Amino acid sequence: MSNIQVTTRRAFRRTDDYTPGTPKLKLVQEALPLPLAPTSVLVKVYAVAINYRDANIANGGNPWPVLPNGILCNDAAGEIIAVGEKVKALAIGDRVGPITDTDNISGREVGRSWLAADEDGVMANHIIFDEAVFCKLPDYLDWTSAATIPCAGVTAWSALKGMSIGQAVLIQGTGGVSMFAMKLARAAGLRVVLSSSSDRKLQQMRDKFSSPPILTVNYATNPDWHNQVLELTGGVGVDIVVENGGTGSLVKSMKCTRRGGIVSQVGYLAKQNPMDLAELVPTIIDRRIILRGINAGSKYDMEDFCAALSACQTPLDDLIDKVSPFEQAEEAVQYVWGGSRLERLSSSFRPFQDNHIDIPRVRAWLFLTTYNNHMIDNPTNFTGKKFNSKERLSINPKRTSCILQGYQRKS
Ligand SMILES: NC(=O)c1ccc[n+]([C@@H]2O[C@H](COP(=O)([O-])OP(=O)(O)OC[C@H]3O[C@@H](n4cnc5c(N)ncnc54)[C@H](OP(=O)(O)O)[C@@H]3O)[C@@H](O)[C@H]2O)c1
Repeated sequence: MSNIQVTTRRAFRRTDDYTPGTPKLKLVQEALPLPLAPTSVLVKVYAVAINYRDANIANGGNPWPVLPNGILCNDAAGEIIAVGEKVKALAIGDRVGPITDTDNISGREVGRSWLAADEDGVMANHIIFDEAVFCKLPDYLDWTSAATIPCAGVTAWSALKGMSIGQAVLIQGTGGVSMFAMKLARAAGLRVVLSSSSDRKLQQMRDKFSSPPILTVNYATNPDWHNQVLELTGGVGVDIVVENGGTGSLVKSMKCTRRGGIVSQVGYLAKQNPMDLAELVPTIIDRRIILRGINAGSKYDMEDFCAALSACQTPLDDLIDKVSPFEQAEEAVQYVWGGSRLERLSSSFRPFQDNHIDIPRVRAWLFLTTYNNHMIDNPTNFTGKKFNSKERLSINPKRTSCILQGYQRKS
């Protein structure tokens, strides 16, 4: 075993107090579970990405049980600093991220163990897991971008698996998973139909992905959006749907999928009501739909995805919303939570507010950075402010800090 210099870690554990306005996280200093088991590795974490799921868990909304006072988050990128004596596939210095379901290696395992739910997650400056849980991350990505891969990235990859050039995909919404799916679809030569509750976001996306152009549908202003998708695809339907709404949109998604096509059920963002599924069975039979449940992905999926990213050298930094210092985890989680609720509120109950979000990037992730065990240069720059479209976040991998280039705060 390697000579381990660190014996404790700082971690954010959930308070499990779901009363609005109370802290959802507590920073603790705790002993690392040492010595390392023979096949375990110790990773120094450089970036943690916060998804909607994490904010939902912290606020008591997870539909599945969670470990009491567990460590939050499942997306991390870090460097191996020590290995157990029987570790074979990884070495000190490797850049790695954990898979989301640590029992899902090949996709055939019978069990399931989600990080941050069934077991402790990754919002800590050091984490220890079995080597089987980690994948090597693409070299071309900085830490912050690489931290997006395990959950949203692998989910989008799994949702689009099997697609080939020229096929059509319906991507629902402009959240984290969807924007990853958009990147993958473009890299794979798919025709994209994107839906959103916001005409302005759709315009931004049309501008951003102008060549070849994407097709767009507003699912909030057009309750029959599935018919519009059919029209846009010459009455045939798309080959695959990245389904994010759940019960409220599933049957409609099937109706605008070609006969024999695939609906990848990823999310459950709309209000879930089983009554919406009355036409499920006739529709699935009539259209010969393959309904595919997505649960992030296996380790093999993540490895394939990382290989694809490396081959395409797809930049991911434009997906990043905001970067915060590790100490501001509480604010960061609430930022994601508040944003998610506002988004849904705006899409469900009232017209999109013009001054709500006006960045071409999507508020997909918020990153906690733990560079050098502490923070970015000027963390106060990142707190709760709106950004304008000129703003550009970049991470210099040669430095141990994040910088904003051309940062301009809106007046
Ligand atoms: N199965 C898995 O393995 C897995 C993995 C990751 C996430 N998820 C789930 O997938 C969903 C998306 O996750 P995320 O991280 O991308 O969330 P997110 O970043 O919070 O996505 C929010 C966006 O989704 C869109 N949206 C909201 N309600 C919608 C609806 N009824 N129909 C279609 N789109 C809707 C909105 O886009 P517009 O503002 O453009 O309308 C909103 O901006 C969540 O339910 C999450 O829990 C599942």
